Amino acid sequence: MAQNIYDDADFFSGYSGLRRSITGLGGMPEWPTMRAMVGTVTDKRVVDLGCGFGWFSRWAAAAGASSVVGIDLSDNMLARALADTEDTRISYERQDLETLVLPASFDIAYSALTLHYVEHLGELLRTLYEALSAGGRFVFSVEHPIYTAPSSPGFIADEAGNQVWPIDRYLDEGQRTTDWLTPGVIKQHRTIGTYLAELRSARFDLVDLIEWGPTAEQIDLAPNWRTERDRPPFLLVSADKR
Ligand SMILES: C[S@@+](CC[C@H](N)C(=O)[O-])C[C@H]1O[C@@H](n2cnc3c(N)ncnc32)[C@H](O)[C@@H]1O
Repeated sequence: MAQNIYDDADFFSGYSGLRRSITGLGGMPEWPTMRAMVGTVTDKRVVDLGCGFGWFSRWAAAAGASSVVGIDLSDNMLARALADTEDTRISYERQDLETLVLPASFDIAYSALTLHYVEHLGELLRTLYEALSAGGRFVFSVEHPIYTAPSSPGFIADEAGNQVWPIDRYLDEGQRTTDWLTPGVIKQHRTIGTYLAELRSARFDLVDLIEWGPTAEQIDLAPNWRTERDRPPFLLVSADKR
């Protein structure tokens, strides 16, 4: 059973106050890149894994998807997603991605910043592969492995005063317990090589892998994003079913 930290009252309160929780896709600087990776959703059947507040689910329906299923473990997240959704093409389900059951009826699968919470990624990818139609696409983002690896993630100043991001335990994959919004948040660290190997093992064909960082234009608009070029915060991946 996965940790359901988004149903912890303190965590949920902190998460709800984050910029991207308030502004949605417009507050996600990596969204334009992910949107391009998803491509057209017109008349497609879409599943949104770890849908959270449902920002992507609503975007997909508005962009012409024929149906969207948003899946999440958290009652808190699903309650807000439901409250914010009027489109009858969208439905939400409470499921744990560790034991996901899906009908074979999707053309596009999407998951933003959720799979680094999932321990049994290989099983999930195999379930997803079976649920996608031939030629179907899976697009996901995760916290970059450089971000998830360290025992104590955080920037420090080196002797010259430069900001650096110390890495340890990069090849020591598995659970990390960090303090983010509340103490004791469990994430799963895996290397880029493992993400690729798991996709290949599930028979997906890699389309794109992007170590995302903000552009100069984005930094001009939000100077606090400059620091994200010192270590990429997100890994973005798209893969197709043969
Ligand atoms: C960082 S939020 C991202 C939400 C949404 N994808 C977005 O980009 O706004 C991660 C989401 O994954 C969900 N989640 C984490 N572990 C999960 C699991 N094992 N099964 C289903 N959902 C899970 C959380 O409840 C949360 O809503």
